[in-house]
Amino acid sequence: MPQLDGFDFSFTDPPYNVGKNYGQYDDRMPENKYFEWCDEWISMISERSNMMAVYPPKIYIRWFLNRLPDHHLVIATWNPYGAIRGLYVHQYAPLLLPKKPYKKVQDHWGGCMVPGCGYFFTEKTYGHPGYTSEHITRLVIDCCSVAGQIILDPFGGTGTTGRAAKDLGRKAVLIEQNERYCEIAACRMGQEVLL
Ligand SMILES: C[S@@+](CC[C@H](N)C(=O)[O-])C[C@H]1O[C@@H](n2cnc3c(N)ncnc32)[C@H](O)[C@@H]1O
Repeated sequence: MPQLDGFDFSFTDPPYNVGKNYGQYDDRMPENKYFEWCDEWISMISERSNMMAVYPPKIYIRWFLNRLPDHHLVIATWNPYGAIRGLYVHQYAPLLLPKKPYKKVQDHWGGCMVPGCGYFFTEKTYGHPGYTSEHITRLVIDCCSVAGQIILDPFGGTGTTGRAAKDLGRKAVLIEQNERYCEIAACRMGQEVLL
């Protein structure tokens, strides 16, 4: 990220510190270390991007809201099928959106499709333990940017932000530490991998 600049908008779904296996990255840090790390990447995004939105971990919403006081909390409710997964009921995803998006944010956020519910691809197909809903990513990008703008996602994973940005006529730069996920992202965007 230090070598990049000039983004119109950033959207990211960061690691949640819940012990997922992303390869090299340690997803189970002591809480204070996790917050220090989040503080660092939020600062880096803020310096490089006019606006940002984050898909925060539910248990840390308060911390993220304090850290991003210019943001609204938006609740994206999941569609009934996606809300029930295995033994658990996940009914919503919290999102932190800028207070002044390009489009009004009301009325978009019900019945969102979530990954793994059979509507999109499944975890088995992509081999990634925490990819983001393409439906929600699309809504966020649509509200917070306009065609032709450049979007940054510093935790790119399997490229959901890139795919949605491309479909909506935006450009995107994704950063991802795991080469396998970079390859998946490149496939999803129909591009060659430039490593
Ligand atoms: C929740 S996932 C993002 C999912 C992504 N939006 C998608 O749909 O696939 C978080 C990602 O951050 C990556 N990551 C963790 N630390 C990183 C770092 N320091 N730099 C870049 N990526 C990192 C992980 O490998 C993981 O793919």
